Amino acid sequence: MWWLAHGEHEVGPDLEWLTPRERAVLDGLKYTKRRVEFLTRRWTAKRAVAMVLGRGLAPAAMASVEIRHHLSGAPWVAVDGQAAAIDVSISDRAGWAVCLVGPPGANGALGIDLELVEPRSDAFVGDFFTAGECTAVRHLAAGEARDEAANLIWSAKEAALKVLKVGLRADTRDVEVEVGRLRRDDGWSALSVTHRDGSAFPGWWRRDGVFLLTLAGRRLSPPPVLLDGGGQLADAMPVHSWLTQPLVPSPDATEG
Ligand SMILES: CC(C)(COP(=O)(O)OP(=O)(O)OC[C@H]1O[C@@H](n2cnc3c(N)ncnc32)[C@H](O)[C@@H]1OP(=O)(O)O)[C@@H](O)C(=O)NCCC(=O)NCCS
Repeated sequence: MWWLAHGEHEVGPDLEWLTPRERAVLDGLKYTKRRVEFLTRRWTAKRAVAMVLGRGLAPAAMASVEIRHHLSGAPWVAVDGQAAAIDVSISDRAGWAVCLVGPPGANGALGIDLELVEPRSDAFVGDFFTAGECTAVRHLAAGEARDEAANLIWSAKEAALKVLKVGLRADTRDVEVEVGRLRRDDGWSALSVTHRDGSAFPGWWRRDGVFLLTLAGRRLSPPPVLLDGGGQLADAMPVHSWLTQPLVPSPDATEG
């Protein structure tokens, strides 16, 4: 497995790397937040897949890769217009996107999720976490460690629910998260998510600066390898650039 992160500031104004279908989706997005998130997710995912497939990063190579969706919203990859046997999972948060790519031909569903370490209310924990998860969070004093624990559990739930391709249609208490604290030299620590039905989703988590990254799959695999050329989450600042211009200016709007 491989992973890559990019910040929205790394996506240039030239959009030749998008396919016509992706361009049409982009043109239909009227809110800057949606547009920036879509572009950052596509930039990151298409670069990651193109690199893993050895296609290079020229705009034409990136445009040969398309991330499409099942009805569930789960992504699948088309290469040169044909479904490709390569699994991806994508997430974005606060101006940054991440993509996890599985080995070509492996056919194993994946989930990745990016979150910030930020306050989560006790009501949030009570509503969305299992009894065991609530206890694990509530025994920590309010502050940084508690915020990290709550966001980590939330993120791992989202990663596992992406593996199941249901996302937040599911009850988040259907899955229970256990996080390991032993940190490897490469920054990854183990986690495990167990579904109410007994199925298990092993994975990994890491903290880079104010970001938390979790991933899960159906099988235990070594942590993913970071692809070259991405942005550094460890130094990344959360960005909410859309706040200054929430609506995408209409193409025929003229400067007054
Ligand atoms: C999966 C889900 C939890 C991710 O939400 P999020 O935290 O806001 O977004 P993230 O940035 O972490 O992830 C977004 C990516 O998740 C992936 N995704 C969406 N639905 C997915 C699903 N059912 N299974 C797996 N992955 C999914 C997509 O790749 C998406 O990016 P893309 O649309 O650019 O390809 C959420 O989209 C969801 O619950 N979807 C199912 C329910 C639904 O469709 N609701 C309608 C919108 S409210």
